[in-house]
Amino acid sequence: MINILKNISIGTDIENIKRFEKYSSNKEDAFILKIYTKSEIEYCFSRNNPAKHLAARFCAKEAVYKALCGLGFVGINFKEIEIYHDKNNVPQIKLLNKKFDNICCKVSLSHNKDNAMASVLLYLPLSQTASQFTAIDH
Ligand SMILES: CC(C)(COP(=O)(O)OP(=O)(O)OC[C@H]1O[C@@H](n2cnc3c(N)ncnc32)[C@H](O)[C@@H]1OP(=O)(O)O)[C@@H](O)C(=O)NCCC(=O)NCCS
Repeated sequence: MINILKNISIGTDIENIKRFEKYSSNKEDAFILKIYTKSEIEYCFSRNNPAKHLAARFCAKEAVYKALCGLGFVGINFKEIEIYHDKNNVPQIKLLNKKFDNICCKVSLSHNKDNAMASVLLYLPLSQTASQFTAIDH
């Protein structure tokens, strides 16, 4: 039987927004610069409560990391994962390392007063396998 789910992987993560409040007043904080891309920083810090948007994006990056593990990849630098909005305001993921060009991504984000979460689905076309790529350090 062909396992049609072999090249599909999911990841999820949830974070307490409080953890991100200490970063939400300084765009230049070392943690912010290490984890988020320029356009993510612009988006989060343009909102009333940056911490919840920072938390949601962190969740998305963790969820991508988990989903990549499910496809056999060892790791990815969080700054190589960018969350942006399309013209309909739907969040999308761009993997900025060329090695991951063939991976298709879907993401959904949510936050309430206390927590943020993200769910991610990755798809690697059937002709590809993770072993064709070199794992990179996290
Ligand atoms: C888009 C919508 C579903 C977001 O729900 P919400 O509870 O306000 O927000 P959540 O905290 O769960 O999620 C927020 C995230 O949703 C994502 N989002 C926003 N608009 C989106 C859309 N159109 N599609 C998918 N995701 C969307 C964003 O990523 C956002 O997070 P971000 O700003 O950090 O990027 C909501 O605003 C909406 O329009 N609901 C429709 C209500 C409606 O028509 N009801 C009719 C009932 S009969």
